[in-house]
Amino acid sequence: MNDEKSIKETLVKIKDLYEGNLSQHGVNSKAVGWKDQESQLLRFEKLAEVIPGNTDSYTVADWGCGYAAMYDFLQEKKPGCKKYYGYDISADMLHKARELHPADDLELIQSADVSTSADYTFVSGTFNVKFSESDEAWSAHVKETLQKLAEKTTRGLAFNLLTTYVDWKQENLFYADPMEFFNFCKKNLSRKVTLIHDYPLYEWTMLVKL
Ligand SMILES: C[S@@+](CC[C@H](N)C(=O)[O-])C[C@H]1O[C@@H](n2cnc3c(N)ncnc32)[C@H](O)[C@@H]1O
Repeated sequence: MNDEKSIKETLVKIKDLYEGNLSQHGVNSKAVGWKDQESQLLRFEKLAEVIPGNTDSYTVADWGCGYAAMYDFLQEKKPGCKKYYGYDISADMLHKARELHPADDLELIQSADVSTSADYTFVSGTFNVKFSESDEAWSAHVKETLQKLAEKTTRGLAFNLLTTYVDWKQENLFYADPMEFFNFCKKNLSRKVTLIHDYPLYEWTMLVKL
């Protein structure tokens, strides 16, 4: 099977996984694969560091938005978000996101492809599950996607990935070497790159200012 076809099949499995989680746990951080809300919010806090403190008006694309928990975080902690585009492959997730957020500054799009431009793009946990894809194939998929996301972003792209600095790995998850991705971002996306790997989760966050 070629890589592209295989990735498409994997995305279907990923969608099914999260929809299963949603029906099992209801709308909460466990439905999107997180241990608890505290760790979900810590991830948002790290990602949102890409937005300078004096920013009073900006737009956002949240790629793999789940039930759009990041929308609430931004409303509370980073005022000035004029438009939030939430992308997800799961119609069930987007349905819940809409139920929770009837506001019209939030637009929800069921797709793996970003079709709108935004000042800031966030990716939280969206690349973590790879099922049986090889590390090589998934890593290439992640990099190709980051390129595409950066092309649709004007000010900053922030994403997190599980770290290779662990002493135990779950087979169906993707663990990424932070130095490899730092290098990738510097060489291909922007000269202004920050790696955050000092918070108490088994992952790191990259901030790419464009
Ligand atoms: C780990 S959850 C995180 C959700 C949200 N970012 C959060 O932190 O609350 C990942 C979400 O990304 C979605 N997803 C996975 N792969 C995707 C893709 N290629 N394109 C769009 N959405 C995707 C899943 O359906 C799921 O809702």
